[in-house]
Amino acid sequence: MTGFVRKDLIGLQGLSADEIGYVLDVADQFRFVNLRSIKKVPTLRGKSVVHLFLEPSTRTRTSFDIAAKRLSADTFSISGGSSSTTKGETLLDTARNLAAMHPDIIVLRHARAGAPGLLSDALPNTSIINAGDGRHEHPTQALLDMLTIRRALGGLKGRTVTIVGDITHSRVARSNIWGLRTMGAKVRVCGPRTLIPPGIEELGVEVHDNLQDGIRKADVVMMLRIQKERLSRGGHFFPTSREYSRMFGLNREKLRRWARKDVLIMHPGPINRGVELEPEVADGEWSVILDQVENGVAVRMAVMYLVLGGEGAARREGRG
Ligand code: CP
Repeated sequence: MTGFVRKDLIGLQGLSADEIGYVLDVADQFRFVNLRSIKKVPTLRGKSVVHLFLEPSTRTRTSFDIAAKRLSADTFSISGGSSSTTKGETLLDTARNLAAMHPDIIVLRHARAGAPGLLSDALPNTSIINAGDGRHEHPTQALLDMLTIRRALGGLKGRTVTIVGDITHSRVARSNIWGLRTMGAKVRVCGPRTLIPPGIEELGVEVHDNLQDGIRKADVVMMLRIQKERLSRGGHFFPTSREYSRMFGLNREKLRRWARKDVLIMHPGPINRGVELEPEVADGEWSVILDQVENGVAVRMAVMYLVLGGEGAARREGRG
């Protein structure tokens, strides 16, 4: 089936290549709205979107909010500190109370894997979009990563993408593995063995514990942040940040010696400068990190539009 006919976006696991390709095509069209002087279309006029962010975020939260406003939706933001979850209310109670006010979409970021799936089952009349849940998935991040690669390299099929860093704790890595493999890319993961989940090869990825081998001939190198907030709960995974940086951090010299001249460097942000990436690489000629952020708005516009029914719904409701 071509198109994207789903109430929710919980993850990229289980999405078909047609569905992912369709979201990227729609996002490519929305990119142009972001380049106009008047950055607003009536596509979601009369719709309401609640941003429920129970974990910190700069990029994802702002990007979803800008995307919804550019589609003319009304937006409402709730963060962890300002919500009644701090008084002991359960996520499900919070979500049911919000749903009673009839929002069309709830965008949820949550520290627990599975939280968006729980809401998806509990709220049949509200679209749920996962903005990152624990170590599980961050589907719109992977979609914007794929759009960035597709735009820079002309396609995903047959391309080699190396994901470097803390694979175990990374929802970005997991969504990218599902999405990139589905779209026909070859995926390598690279990092200390302590940060690579056992059995990950079963997802069809190559595993490297040596940066030189991991990035050799790769078209794209996606650097991940060392997630101090998740690592601190589980003990020690590498001796020191300095040691990690020496083994798996990327600088100009390593790139010059080991990588393709035209390699693309990506990072989902926030960057730990001087740990996984030196500024000369993060801000250098290989970097498409700000392209990722730019494409994120278009991807989120596409996802919100599509979970509310896309073109058919817009035309029926006089919004198209
Ligand atoms: N990439 C990403 O999820 O960044 P934020 O945590 O700032 O949203």
